[in-house]
Amino acid sequence: MGSVSLKIGDGTARFRRGTLCSSAVHLLMLASVITTNLFALYAFTAAPPPSFSSAPSTVPHPGAGVGGGHRNLSVISEHVALIVREIEASERRLHQIERELAGYDTLDPAKPSLPPELRLFLARHRLPLGRDARSGITEMVASVAHSCARSPAADLLARYMSYKPAAHCPADDPSLPQKLIAKACEPLPRRRCLSRPTAPAATTAPRLPFPQSLWSPGVKNPGAGMYGLDKQMWITPGGKNDFSIDEVLAIGSGGIRIGFDIGGGAGNFAARMAERNVTVVTSTLEIGGKPMNEFVAARGLFPLLLSPTQRFPFYDSVFDLVHTLNALDEGGAPALGQASRTEALEFLMFDIDRVLRAGGLLWLDNYLCTDDERKRMVTKLIERFGYKKLKWVVGEKADARNTAKTQVYLSAVLQKPARG
Ligand SMILES: *[C@@H]1O[C@H](CO)[C@@H](O)[C@H](O)[C@H]1NC(C)=O
Ligand SMILES: *[C@@H]1O[C@H](CO)[C@@H](O)[C@H](O)[C@H]1NC(C)=O
Repeated sequence: MGSVSLKIGDGTARFRRGTLCSSAVHLLMLASVITTNLFALYAFTAAPPPSFSSAPSTVPHPGAGVGGGHRNLSVISEHVALIVREIEASERRLHQIERELAGYDTLDPAKPSLPPELRLFLARHRLPLGRDARSGITEMVASVAHSCARSPAADLLARYMSYKPAAHCPADDPSLPQKLIAKACEPLPRRRCLSRPTAPAATTAPRLPFPQSLWSPGVKNPGAGMYGLDKQMWITPGGKNDFSIDEVLAIGSGGIRIGFDIGGGAGNFAARMAERNVTVVTSTLEIGGKPMNEFVAARGLFPLLLSPTQRFPFYDSVFDLVHTLNALDEGGAPALGQASRTEALEFLMFDIDRVLRAGGLLWLDNYLCTDDERKRMVTKLIERFGYKKLKWVVGEKADARNTAKTQVYLSAVLQKPARG
């Protein structure tokens, strides 16, 4: 982070890669080095086999007339070749073990089983006019996420990329891209086929002019609460953890013009912000096959299809405001193997920090901490970033599933400091 003065002095251990997996790999490496060394020791000290030490006449050799030195040399070089092969084999094995431990495989474009369209997409394409002076590149290289190579995403990807170019995309499973994104196979490769609208009514319905479209999108409401139209949120606070949009905008004293709502469902936050002339991009996933992105678009708002683990596709320091109702929550993450590890949250927090400008606001809206321990961990993490706590409310609500238990909610408006 260069000159950025994060308060991470006492927390360096958290950033250490000292996991069980890496120590297992190190042990294996050590074992492999020891065996190859023992092998070499054996090769150089062991007595040559009888066939080599017997009379020169039994082994016709071009250098036989010069003396036994050449024979000894060839014995040694044979041993060396054997050692080299042994080392190469253990390196391959080690690589394999490392990949298995990391939990992913690599997508080899040379693999014959890869659909031709995927191979074509991944191929390097030279720029028609040669090297581009500004970017310094000579060819375009397309990429897909490494998780695409992991089972079962690999099979889904092969199905996704098996189609007839320039025709309609296969109709068999319109939710295939969603399934792949949920398995962290993002970015997905581009396809050369004509897409089919998932909900024809949503795309052909006449659009109302803006801003009427915000609350009358003219398409079916996909759900309730944050997954459908909600006219209460941020207008009529339901508890002390609910801040109103107007009070937060007042804190921002006019400097809030563009924002990013992470995991924003049906786009209610962006709609309320649009009414106040603030442009908000809403990241939303198609949950349970509901056409969330089409719904947000029908409202005249900007939907962004983004898996919970993808790096935000924005440049540094671009947003005046980042809002999230549940992105820090384990909600969308366990399916992607992110669970509630501190590091998973750190990856997210650092990316939020990156896209927020100095002086910009981070609005944590009713973040559900499963317990007090989680609340302490999140609080400690946030404090290490040195944000100014403009609002900070911790509340408890009865657990809907277990009335004997209460759940801890954290709501906060935090201001990113200017860092030198
Ligand atoms: C070949 O190596 C052996 C020891 O392995 C040695 O006794 C012998 O003198 C060597 N022969 C020549 C010709 O150098
Ligand atoms: C939004 O912008 C329009 C046009 O500039 C203006 O008439 C309106 O008063 C603004 N609304 C708010 C809430 O600032």
